[in-house]
Amino acid sequence: MCGIVGAVAQRNVQGILLEGLKRLEYRGYDSAGLAVLGRDGRLSRRRALGKVAALEARLAEFPLAGHSGIAHTRWATHGRPSEENAHPHQSGDRLAVVHNGIIENHEILRGELEAAGYGFASETDTEVIAHLIEREAREGDLLQAVRRVLARLDGAYALGVIHADEPDVVIGARKGSPLVVGVGIEEAFLASDPLALLQVTDRFIYLEEGDVVRLSPGGRVEVLDAAGTAVERPVQTFEHGDGAASKGDYRHFMLKEIHEQPAVIAAALEGRLGERSVLVESFGPDAEALFARVKQIHLVACGTSYHAGMVARYWLERYAGVPVQVEVASEYRYRRVVVPEDTLFVTLSQSGETADTLAALRFAKELGYLGSLAICNVPGSSLVRESDLTLMTQAGPEIGVASTKAFTTQLVALTLLTLALGRVRGQDADEQATLVEALRRLPGQVARVLALDPAIEALSAAFAEKYHALFLGRGAHFPVALEGALKLKEISYIHAEAYPAGELKHGPLALVDGEMPVIAVAPNDELLEKLKSNLQEVRARGGELFVFADEQVALADGEGVRVLRLPHVEDALAPILYTVPLQLLAYHVAVLKGTDVDQPRNLAKSVTVE
Ligand code: G6P
Repeated sequence: MCGIVGAVAQRNVQGILLEGLKRLEYRGYDSAGLAVLGRDGRLSRRRALGKVAALEARLAEFPLAGHSGIAHTRWATHGRPSEENAHPHQSGDRLAVVHNGIIENHEILRGELEAAGYGFASETDTEVIAHLIEREAREGDLLQAVRRVLARLDGAYALGVIHADEPDVVIGARKGSPLVVGVGIEEAFLASDPLALLQVTDRFIYLEEGDVVRLSPGGRVEVLDAAGTAVERPVQTFEHGDGAASKGDYRHFMLKEIHEQPAVIAAALEGRLGERSVLVESFGPDAEALFARVKQIHLVACGTSYHAGMVARYWLERYAGVPVQVEVASEYRYRRVVVPEDTLFVTLSQSGETADTLAALRFAKELGYLGSLAICNVPGSSLVRESDLTLMTQAGPEIGVASTKAFTTQLVALTLLTLALGRVRGQDADEQATLVEALRRLPGQVARVLALDPAIEALSAAFAEKYHALFLGRGAHFPVALEGALKLKEISYIHAEAYPAGELKHGPLALVDGEMPVIAVAPNDELLEKLKSNLQEVRARGGELFVFADEQVALADGEGVRVLRLPHVEDALAPILYTVPLQLLAYHVAVLKGTDVDQPRNLAKSVTVE
């Protein structure tokens, strides 16, 4: 998704902006650009189609110099990926704008501007913003000009604006798309994500919806809220450190993040477990009273987070006795939802900025829920700020577009929610104590699964030449199979589908032959025998089977059957453990195929548009 960087500094900002763009590459994009203002008020811009490296090469040949500037990575929405459509967009040679989001009324505005004599150089919705601000700024005061224009925009945006008449100023604004201010020493910065600025500061102001900000020399930061009133927003220190944004010794961020799972799962549990039960207080002081009233849960999310929600439904119904409905946010928000009395609304999101999930939360607030809980990985994100209760997943920054550690820590957070609800609703104390004990063992078991990496890598060769793959699971492992299929298609571009194994004979069996590898998730649970029969159905049709099974299960390698054994784990936690080999399998297949593992084509880390 588009990324914004801006700076007003004591030095040439080109390097800061370029480094910021590199750090935002993980969000997914197709072109990049940068504009700076010289002290003499001269506006200069460079843009390039493709990777930030292409922009960097252009800047090496034609460098820019200026103490204020804005930069952008674009993920095409209006208009194809091209240099003309890349940001910053200019109006004349004095004003430049970068924009993340979608302006819904851009056609009407474009018509109005064309009638007034403005020419358009791109197909983007953003260019209307540039011309509108240029027109308003003729009356002086860039910040007020921006505010007048914002009042005319329908849709979502984060903006960065520079103007030759105010050469040491950058204006930022946000509504519906994230934007933070980096507070430096006598310098100030703007970015879509704190990670973009960790090389220059670890202190951030998280702008609120409707805020407009002026950065000016000496590190001056002035924030106006949606009503135009000057406000002080708190400065928060970013706690994850900059190390999280580097690959270390790993070839890809995704591999590093897969291997971080034992540590981050331990972090997600820290301070949340008592001796024999979960600490309900870790959800906040109001949690206990609220949880005692919960009769139903509606769980809403997108992508990988949605799969976490699907797993949680099995847990919440089995251990807490609470009926759960799970839905993708983009469907939920447009449905006439009936909310039974005392229903808790839960959102799941690694980024906390997914447009559909955020819109679902805002929609839900009008529907009479008991309250809202966000399970999220990014402190200070919009979802966290707008929810009644929050549970942070503590995975640290995740850079690979394909979510791995964010997913498994979401599952951990969801087991904690299950136990917290179970506890206030009278779950058997011994059952709770067994699960708490199993949670404590989980990081070690995940580490044992990671040690199987070479064996999983060896399996990957069987997939690299295939066009399709089928994933099977039963019960809570059906969503795990869905997640395995999603990982494979996201990064290796192999078409993969997942089915509850019992559905095989109702359709997908027709596809099974020697060219269709079938991956089965086979923990030692009550559905194992049924799963084994489903696997026979595959073998009988010549399908090649790859089975991830419990070490205690009597399943043997044979012709067309490869079995990989995982440590035995408490039933309830098996979905977390069995996710890990599927992540590794997708990773190794993608590496063999030579795809861009951390930034797969057409995808974005955080989808901040609808
Ligand atoms: C994008 C990402 C996925 C993610 C989904 C939901 O599609 O590429 O990895 O699962 O958004 O994101 P969220 O931040 O809400 O979990």
